Amino acid sequence: ETIPKYVTRLRVPGTMPTVARTDADEYSVGLRQFRQQVLPTSLPGTRVWGFGSTAHPWTFRYPGNTIEARVDRPVRVTWRNELVDGDGRYLPHLLPVDPALHWANPAGGTEGRDTHPDPDRTPARYLGPVPLVVHLHGGHNLPENDGYPEAWYLPDARDIPAGYARVGSSYEEFDALANAGTHWSPGSARFEYRNDQQATTLWYHDHSVGLTRLSMYAGAAGFYLLRGGDADLPPGVLPGAAAGPDGTPHEIPMLIQDRSFRADGELSYPSGRAGMPFFGTTMVVNGNTWPVLPVQRRRYRFRLLNGCNSRFLQLCVAARPTSRPARPVLPIWQLGSDGGFLPAPVEQDRLALSIGSRSDVLIDFTDVPAGTELYLVNEGPDGPDARGGPADPQTTGQVLKFVVTDRIGPDDTVPAHQLRLPAVPPLGPADRVRRLSLSYANSTGHGVLQLGVVDQRGRPVPLPWGAPVTEQVGLGSTEIWELHNFTSQTHPVHLHQVQFELLGSGRSGGGPARGDQGGRHDTVPVFPGSVRRIKAHFDLPGRYVWHCHILEHEDHDMMRPYVVTPAGA
Ligand code: C2O
Ligand code: CU
Repeated sequence: ETIPKYVTRLRVPGTMPTVARTDADEYSVGLRQFRQQVLPTSLPGTRVWGFGSTAHPWTFRYPGNTIEARVDRPVRVTWRNELVDGDGRYLPHLLPVDPALHWANPAGGTEGRDTHPDPDRTPARYLGPVPLVVHLHGGHNLPENDGYPEAWYLPDARDIPAGYARVGSSYEEFDALANAGTHWSPGSARFEYRNDQQATTLWYHDHSVGLTRLSMYAGAAGFYLLRGGDADLPPGVLPGAAAGPDGTPHEIPMLIQDRSFRADGELSYPSGRAGMPFFGTTMVVNGNTWPVLPVQRRRYRFRLLNGCNSRFLQLCVAARPTSRPARPVLPIWQLGSDGGFLPAPVEQDRLALSIGSRSDVLIDFTDVPAGTELYLVNEGPDGPDARGGPADPQTTGQVLKFVVTDRIGPDDTVPAHQLRLPAVPPLGPADRVRRLSLSYANSTGHGVLQLGVVDQRGRPVPLPWGAPVTEQVGLGSTEIWELHNFTSQTHPVHLHQVQFELLGSGRSGGGPARGDQGGRHDTVPVFPGSVRRIKAHFDLPGRYVWHCHILEHEDHDMMRPYVVTPAGA
């Protein structure tokens, strides 16, 4: 069952069509189940979930089309849960739902017991209607538009069993909105995005509690590119997204994910391994295993996104796909991170890409002879940290092949070493420092992982998702969060609402970090046994989350709410 590599051309996601332009760009975006050729055409198709515009049924794809947004122009999306069949009956999850976790369980009181057991399976598998809630990752948005993990909703199917909750609303503030029907209702949610932040690469994905790893694995993700404003470059400086003289774009988003397949072509995901990281056997870019990308002898801008469940990537461009260590032959110029441009371009042979993170990069093929084949190689580990060994050079150690051809038309973009990137003012002084923990839930050094606080004596106090809020942030304040990792693995920690600065690791403070660490981030790897210090400004009130972006950890149980409260409230 070897899967041939480099037969499918890299698909560039299309642009999500608007349904109206009012005071905002309006979208109607559904999530549906369909079959897609993820594997090469010599192999069977795969059932996936993908987003698309409900007004344009042909736009449904995994990954979803890209939402193109402008700084300071709001976007309004009606996100529709359309996981139903042609008769309007709900579709069960594509993958085994573990009913033993705390999850977005529509059957509520029977949590832990399955009202729709699959008789052929042990443990029982939930086969009921699937909750959904979409989060715009990296967005600066109010809580009611942010995709709170407990604010999920079922499809508007005609066979929802009696007694099932159609919307999840565990908190008063969300409950009121659900009842008013203004933000979410059975079948859909209407979220407004402010776009009052720096131009950057964002992405949207499912965030339903206890199910995120499965629904994202099935395909529920897409890009959201925010352009314009003071912190962007004028058009023409960088390679563009519009088709060039050759008919292809020179700015290309790449969603990189690992996946495993059954012999019949369907997605494979292990059941009954609560909290265990997932490592697939193939690399998938924009919905195809090991694609090939013809590039001309010119500069390309790639928006790289690590959308893997658990896999950290380390990428380089090499002439030979299997030699290790790989010998990088072209630099990867990093221009931007999660939150926007870096202070200056950073030339790197190897690019580390943490889970959930984006890297805005430039690769210059100008001096590569036509006919050359180059490989995007992954030297990250095939398991949590180094324990799985380096990615297999024959499979997960390869990502994509570039085939260089002669240039059609001129390249008027600016070479990386001559680029001047827009300056971003640093965050002001911090109002307080918070010490937070990443640790096991008990002291055995294994088992369930949780976030929590660090006590006076420097010990972790792990807290489950459902424990009362411990992070009460003053509205308008700037805080330093010290993330203390008491575990033996790296965790990519993500905060909603904010784009933070990375600080030096020195105890005493230290200014903003340099190089590729100098930009704004919303997700940061915290290494084993270390402390990572970040600084963020919190200027939107309400209930948000922070969590590990290893999806298996996020679902069980490395996620915590935090609340931003007006002073005196
Ligand atoms: Cu990409 Cu809270 O998630
Ligand atoms: Cu983790």
